[in-house]
Amino acid sequence: MPRILVGIDGSPSCLRALHYAAEVARAKNLSLDLVHVLAPVLLPPTVYAKAIADIERQEREHADRVLTTALADIAPLGVTTRRVTTTGNPVDTLLSLAADEDVEMIAIGTKGRGAVARVLLGSVADQILHLSPKPVLIVH
Ligand SMILES: Nc1ncnc2c1ncn2[C@@H]1O[C@H](COP(=O)(O)OP(=O)(O)OP(=O)(O)O)[C@@H](O)[C@H]1O
Ligand SMILES: [Mg+2]
Repeated sequence: MPRILVGIDGSPSCLRALHYAAEVARAKNLSLDLVHVLAPVLLPPTVYAKAIADIERQEREHADRVLTTALADIAPLGVTTRRVTTTGNPVDTLLSLAADEDVEMIAIGTKGRGAVARVLLGSVADQILHLSPKPVLIVH
């Protein structure tokens, strides 16, 4: 089914992008993929394996909460949604998912959870805007 990818990192800005994307999806009869990209847990091998597994589990639980909140936010709009959680670099991951021929657009916020006030666009937003072959919706 033709769809819009929405980058969800739990920031207020991505939720505003999600709302716009949901309006577009409803108007154009598209579905939404809510994508949360987890950073790989990089710890030295001396760290006890169970500790690493615990961190990974907490990250996944956090991702689930973030996606659940985002989905609840747009539930009244009645758009078909999927949740996608993957691990890796957010830019590479979003761009490779967007390469699918069914993806019509990528929607993201301008700032994320690591927001630095002096920059206009976060690094993920900046790179996606410049590198995406698909239309990009960026919402303040
Ligand atoms: N890990 C992620 N998974 C999914 N979407 C993301 C992720 N990181 C960022 N995004 C998307 O990109 C938008 C802009 O975030 P970005 O990371 O560019 O801003 P920032 O966190 O303020 O900057 P930086 O990461 O450079 O400190 C977010 O609103 C969100 O839509
Ligand atoms: Mg960020």
